Amino acid sequence: MSGHSTYDFKNPVVRWFDERLPLVSMVRGQLVDFPTPRNLNYWWTFGGILATMLAIQLLTGIVLVMHYTPHAALAFDSVQQIMRDVNWGWLLRWMHANGAAFFFLAVYIHMFRGLYYGSYKAPREVLWMIGVLIFLVMMATAFMGYVLPWGQMSFWAAVVITNLFSAFPVIGEPLVQWLWGGFAVDNPTLQRFFSLHYLLPFVLVGLVILHIWALHVTGNNNPDGIEVKSEQDTLPFHPYYTMKDLFAIVVFLMVYLAFVFYSPWYMGHSINFVPGNPLVTPEHIVPEWYFLPFYAMLRAIPDKLGGVLVMFGSIVVLFFLPWLDRAKVKSLRYRPIARVFFWIFVLVGLTLGVAGSQPPEGAWLLVSRIATAWYFIHFLVILPLLGVIEKPKNVPGSITEAVLARGGH
Ligand code: HEM
Repeated sequence: MSGHSTYDFKNPVVRWFDERLPLVSMVRGQLVDFPTPRNLNYWWTFGGILATMLAIQLLTGIVLVMHYTPHAALAFDSVQQIMRDVNWGWLLRWMHANGAAFFFLAVYIHMFRGLYYGSYKAPREVLWMIGVLIFLVMMATAFMGYVLPWGQMSFWAAVVITNLFSAFPVIGEPLVQWLWGGFAVDNPTLQRFFSLHYLLPFVLVGLVILHIWALHVTGNNNPDGIEVKSEQDTLPFHPYYTMKDLFAIVVFLMVYLAFVFYSPWYMGHSINFVPGNPLVTPEHIVPEWYFLPFYAMLRAIPDKLGGVLVMFGSIVVLFFLPWLDRAKVKSLRYRPIARVFFWIFVLVGLTLGVAGSQPPEGAWLLVSRIATAWYFIHFLVILPLLGVIEKPKNVPGSITEAVLARGGH
């Protein structure tokens, strides 16, 4: 790194600055001139949508903190005060609460896009693994944020989830007490959750920078899963993809804001309007919708430790995905059998989501057991096997060839 810009900036001040710190040329290289495959479809706009949602969560969160009080005796009332007395407080809170849900909606779409087009395969394994790490940190952040309003569901979610760690032999009990900061979920628990809920989004920002750095080393994958071979296969990121991303971001924000303004508690649980009470257990303790598939897996296993291991295992397996699926062809466009199993997997994920919202008994318990088993069979048996036995369709020689064959330009 010479530190010298490769750009010939006309503005003398910009040139002076860039020769000393090549920030402007870096941004130009990464966000303006960056050669991007010409065939990206709208599923590739979700990365930009996710970055937008992360920014919204940070901004609304930082202002909410100015009025929130992280204390077991005051938290619930401080949230009520934000809703009623703080100027625009209701908007900040509904944007933040619904923002979390839409952040997860976008991340699920982003991940399934990766699964469909084989974006996790070489040379993008590290990019994918950083993504899985981001997903884990997002889940921890959302869980701890949900506890902060200290309503009944907040409180009992904290009780149920922290108790999971007691399943580990020997270290279980001391571990849970260490997490609680005492002998029950109480004020110290709320305060540490608050501290971490504030910290982790900044860890996310760091991980997202690494994620995009890794992306810009390998370049984007694309719907045909063919690596870029010549300049003809690409377009400069700006204006082609800046405009496409911007359009998608606006449409996504319109749907999100429709919930914020017209149905802000649609995804919430009414019991959370009751202050948290350790002496009254709600009849059904259910997490937010985005955790339901994992909740179903947790409860599908009759043994507590087994359930915890299966639930965490469902994420751990994603780290190994690049080595479990050995098929050379990336995009499922050219893998008809793997494509069928992909859609079965989507169905299994949705089924787990519904099962997670039901009490774990009778038919739903059976359904969640079958679906949990299928989740692991998909990654550990079907994908490795298909990599060997499936004969893919002929893959075009280049992105340009694939685009022209479909009558594009
Ligand atoms: C805060 C969350 C995240 C942000 C802001 C983010 C951002 C981005 C951006 C801007 C891109 C390039 C545009 C695109 O392909 O959509 C991208 C690509 C990618 N992301 Fe993420 N991402 C996030 C989470 C994740 C997660 C959870 C995973 C997987 C577990 C993941 C896996 C990938 C992969 C594999 C690519 C390469 C896609 C390709 O070129 O085919 N990302 N991400």
